[in-house]
Amino acid sequence: MNYRTLGRTGWKVSEISFGAWAIGGAWGNVDDRDSLAALHAALDGGVNFFDTADVYGDGRSERLLARLRKERKEKFYITTKAGSRLPKQTLAGYSRKNLTAFIHRSLKNLNTDVIDLLQLHCPPMDVYYSPEVFGILDDFVKAGKLRYYGVSVEKVEEALKAIEFPNVQSVQIIFNMFRQRPAELLFGEAQCRKVGILARVPRASGLLSGKISGASRFAKDDHRNFNRHGEAFDRGETFAGVDFATGLRAVGKLKQLVPPGASLAQTALRWILEFPAVTCAIPGAKRPAQVSENVTASDLKSLSPVTMKKIDEIYSKQIRPLVHQYW
Ligand SMILES: NC(=O)c1ccc[n+]([C@@H]2O[C@H](COP(=O)([O-])OP(=O)(O)OC[C@H]3O[C@@H](n4cnc5c(N)ncnc54)[C@H](OP(=O)(O)O)[C@@H]3O)[C@@H](O)[C@H]2O)c1
Repeated sequence: MNYRTLGRTGWKVSEISFGAWAIGGAWGNVDDRDSLAALHAALDGGVNFFDTADVYGDGRSERLLARLRKERKEKFYITTKAGSRLPKQTLAGYSRKNLTAFIHRSLKNLNTDVIDLLQLHCPPMDVYYSPEVFGILDDFVKAGKLRYYGVSVEKVEEALKAIEFPNVQSVQIIFNMFRQRPAELLFGEAQCRKVGILARVPRASGLLSGKISGASRFAKDDHRNFNRHGEAFDRGETFAGVDFATGLRAVGKLKQLVPPGASLAQTALRWILEFPAVTCAIPGAKRPAQVSENVTASDLKSLSPVTMKKIDEIYSKQIRPLVHQYW
């Protein structure tokens, strides 16, 4: 496992981290024993950075991470998020009172006195024009409740605005072979300001795992069943906003570019790691075997310039016209 520096925190975080949404049980059934085994496997494989949120399983994911802290001695970082508990995303919702309640609830779930990194959870654009909100977060840092803070965003424009605030340490954004716009302008700006990039949904909700086919069926409570067109939340979060059939056709082409001995699932992560602006990829996993496969992406050989170019061509022809301008 290789490690990269996160923002100006001085932390060295594993370039493959752990996305703890699915272990909250919000998409498909999960067993806490499998989830904990997956978390342990991540630590065993060198992962030292875990991404969760107060809403993942309504705190279940945070509580599992608290158990992991109790069961293991080594140091690792947990980043959680606040804001999605609001019934409606409005600037007024990001008040001192609400943020205090969210932060205290996460502290309790995580069984800790201080949150390593708190991310605002895809707030509306108004929040980025509101220095007051970031002032409140600064106060929490001063009070010792947060070590650092960052943002999780839907759109590149939100990220560009967010990183104008000097104490934003990280931007979490969807970045994968099917979502390439962040590399155009945002990555350069983030590097200039020493802001970390957390690449979420690295496998386009599993589309880039190469294991999904037209015949795949998803559980009733799995967002891949009910949010393909953004019916419940941002369309871009499910399959990175790519039409399912179009995505599968592109995956067929990408499979031909996978280096010998690797899988498409690993290659999708390796592709992300080729971008030095990225601090880490955050693959979601819920079983130890998935985690073990994910961590090996860090040790894979770099993809050749020819392969990178061919992946770009597939994106440009099949995916870019459909999604590039949206996020
Ligand atoms: N707004 C936000 O801040 C936000 C939104 C979305 C996600 N996130 C974060 O990003 C993380 C990752 O996103 P995600 O979970 O949506 O998508 P993802 O990592 O792109 O895809 C998850 C899918 O990958 C599959 N998978 C995992 N390991 C695999 C392996 N080794 N081989 C083949 N397939 C594998 C899983 O399969 P199975 O279905 O079989 O388990 C699952 O279908 C989340 O856990 C969360 O921490 C944040």
